[in-house]
Amino acid sequence: MGTLIKGGKVVSAAAATLADVLIEGETIAQVAPRIDATGHTVVDAAGMLVLPGGIDVHTHLDMPFGGTVSADDYEWGTRAAAIGGTTTVIDFALQSMGRPMTEAFKTWRAKSEGKACIDYALHMAVTDLGPNDSWLDDVDAMVAEGISSFKIFMAYPNVLMVNDATIFKLMQRTAKLGALVCVHAENGTVIDVVVQQTLAAGHTGPLYHALSRPVETEAEAVHRVITIAELAGAKVYIVHVSCEEAMHEVKAARERGLPVQGETCTQYLVLSIEDDMGKPGFEDAKYVFTPPLRKKKNQAPLWRALKDDVLQVVSTDHCPFRFADQKSLGLGNFTKIPNGGPGIENRMQLAYHHGVNEGRMSLERFVEVTAEAPAKIFGMYPKKGIVAAGSDADIAIWDPEAKYTITAASQSMHTDYSIFEGFQVKGNARQVFSRGEMVVDRGKFIGTVGRGQYLHREVSRR
Ligand code: URP
Ligand code: ZN
Ligand code: ZN
Repeated sequence: MGTLIKGGKVVSAAAATLADVLIEGETIAQVAPRIDATGHTVVDAAGMLVLPGGIDVHTHLDMPFGGTVSADDYEWGTRAAAIGGTTTVIDFALQSMGRPMTEAFKTWRAKSEGKACIDYALHMAVTDLGPNDSWLDDVDAMVAEGISSFKIFMAYPNVLMVNDATIFKLMQRTAKLGALVCVHAENGTVIDVVVQQTLAAGHTGPLYHALSRPVETEAEAVHRVITIAELAGAKVYIVHVSCEEAMHEVKAARERGLPVQGETCTQYLVLSIEDDMGKPGFEDAKYVFTPPLRKKKNQAPLWRALKDDVLQVVSTDHCPFRFADQKSLGLGNFTKIPNGGPGIENRMQLAYHHGVNEGRMSLERFVEVTAEAPAKIFGMYPKKGIVAAGSDADIAIWDPEAKYTITAASQSMHTDYSIFEGFQVKGNARQVFSRGEMVVDRGKFIGTVGRGQYLHREVSRR
């Protein structure tokens, strides 16, 4: 007695095929052209796409940042993810400077325990290698705990930024272990000078956050970190690539055969300085995230990079802050605006509508960049990322005809605005299964809070 998803089109990175999917317990028992329904609970999926649940590899839930804490905790962040068709997130545990990584691991497990609505994994954001690099051994300890990717920031001096020596040492260690280093690539020290000069010139409004972080500072950092990775013999993954110049650095490295991969985020694909910033008053603070929004001309190259496998993943960098009481901390000084924006709920809708419907990528590639490649790159495949016998039954039944208007009023994320307000999309999750349980039905979360499990990830084969 199982759940039979009947008559839908099952999509993977390789193919889209009409097939039935039988779920037994938490896993997929069978995928076949026709499965006898006798004894099973049938979910009619005629006309629907049957997708592997989305995997968002870049989220910041319940994270202290910019003098406050991101507005979605594990309950609300993962609930919103599920509603949008995402069934796994990889969140960032953040090492406090002067404290071991093992402590951050414990802290983030405590934040998530009893709260997550879908399965989740962790990256470790490394800010300090400790006295005499003593915490380098924590890298091994983290891998043993299922954290097979580490994040470093080349931006945010005196807060999160690490220097090149730390990056190199970390990479020498991850190279030995086969683990991955994820990089926020911006030249933080140069940006800091530009920021101080911008403030000194009297430019304090939120638009100046974007204007003080030119594309060259991102491209330079991508180039530098790839060079350091090459020297260390390490794999590297560039997070939130926001512009053509940075993307070209990834492309050049891949053309040289280096193990370099990268992601972009929905906001860089569909928003821009011209369309979304330059609003009156303090409104632009909603779009203060890092890297910042770029000129519109960057969007087409980023879409092409996704299509051509220069970039492998679409994530969100979901790091939400409310406008009324959090973004407002930076009234009169853009450096005090908490950096980050909400998006975990809308990633699949936006990538599907602007990617597949608008002809920028195939349906199969959409599944690859939103689920299959994330699972492979981050050591979760084939448990996650594919609708196949033996995999976890993490499935989004996707209605390709469903029309939906994104608004803050109807979202589940805990921000008092949406950066995609008024965006109209066609294609949305009708039902979502997480490990065999229907957790979302027509936009409503119907699962239990706390049911999400911590995922022990392997080091990736890619
Ligand atoms: O503005 C952003 N992106 N905030 C979250 C931290 C980061 O840089 O990824
Ligand atoms: Zn970042
Ligand atoms: Zn981030």
